[in-house]
Amino acid sequence: MLFSEEMIRTGVDALAERVSSAYRGREFTVVSVLKGSCVFAADLIRRLPIPMELGFVATESYRDGVTSGEIELRYLPSREEVEGRELLLVDDILDTGRTLHFLQNTLIELGATSVATCVLFDKPSRRVVSMEADFKCFDVDDSFIVGYGLDFAGRYRNLPFVGELKGSVIEAATLQQSDVQ
Ligand code: IMP
Ligand code: MG
Repeated sequence: MLFSEEMIRTGVDALAERVSSAYRGREFTVVSVLKGSCVFAADLIRRLPIPMELGFVATESYRDGVTSGEIELRYLPSREEVEGRELLLVDDILDTGRTLHFLQNTLIELGATSVATCVLFDKPSRRVVSMEADFKCFDVDDSFIVGYGLDFAGRYRNLPFVGELKGSVIEAATLQQSDVQ
């Protein structure tokens, strides 16, 4: 375990305060990046005592567990939901930066007035495109973490804490995959 429920709660509290002061008096929409940010976004928005709307985008980039593949867009809000709005893109973790960079550009092209980014975790050492989150909670080393919405090959999202996945679990899953191929 790397982050207990208590640590996450304290982190999200502090983050929510910063988001609230930044957006107080502004019309804005929290856009949760599915599936990974659903748990974090649900906790974050319940700590924002200011008017807001909620939207979702869905991408897929971790198709084989840990390796980063091409980003595929699965769901995007309609132009009406985006045009002229201030958006806060919320994701579980900023890794290579490709997902948020791509989504930020896509939403600006759709007519958003502004697109800021908010992540629970940041892995700065893994960055491929230049991208910093406007709001973030915890930095993590280059390890693969699961829980609180984060998955490995679709599993572990339901853990209430965040843990580092053991190398042996990743290796076993990789071996199973090559057995099939
Ligand atoms: P990026 O495009 O490389 O920044 O990847 C962002 C996405 O990769 C996140 O939304 C996560 O779904 C996934 N991801 C990156 N690192 C991890 C990790 O350590 N555990 C689980 N998912 C991760
Ligand atoms: Mg994921």
